[in-house]
Amino acid sequence: PSRDLPADIAAMGWDDLEAAVAGCQACGLCKSRKNTVFGVGQRQARWLIVGEAPGENEDLQGEPFVGQAGKLLDNMLKTLGRSRTSDDEAQSVYIANVLKCRPPGNRNPAPEEVLQCEPYLRRQVALLQPRIILALGRFAVQSLLQHSVPDVATLPLGRLRGQVYRYEGVPVVVSYHPAYLLRTPQDKAKAWDDLCLAQSLMMDSSA
Ligand code: URA
Repeated sequence: PSRDLPADIAAMGWDDLEAAVAGCQACGLCKSRKNTVFGVGQRQARWLIVGEAPGENEDLQGEPFVGQAGKLLDNMLKTLGRSRTSDDEAQSVYIANVLKCRPPGNRNPAPEEVLQCEPYLRRQVALLQPRIILALGRFAVQSLLQHSVPDVATLPLGRLRGQVYRYEGVPVVVSYHPAYLLRTPQDKAKAWDDLCLAQSLMMDSSA
């Protein structure tokens, strides 16, 4: 499939893009969603965090990662002095998902849904120009790295972590999804290592 962004999306600024997502009917998820979930954080943020898709709370509130998994994510970020609400672009993180609409019952995203939604995230990356992308969980990782990492669909996440990849030229750090960490707290230390890797790349790039 062509990797060209549809010309209309490629020309959009933030506000047009957000409006396009709000009105999107490209897949069936538009029928069951309550709200689209575009993303949150400063549009000058240096970090972009990519999750999978809105869950029930996110669908109700229109903001990513507002449930239990989000609290864990916020706490981990806070330890690094980073947050979605920071006014300081050096500390702000922007948070978005691969899918902008909730799959019913939180089922996994369908390939067709990921395909339809991917241009929005790609345009968000182009507008944000983050210094680092933190990809959380296998859907985010597969969606971002499908064209650059041949085995990404079959390798377990634990085998993909610990290396730096690239998406549209931006370094990508792979880590566990916080919802997984809630179920598997023994892997929190590895997720912490991943955040530290991202942090150290930032230090290098701002030196
Ligand atoms: N899980 C995600 O991947 N994204 C959210 O926004 C919430 C939960």
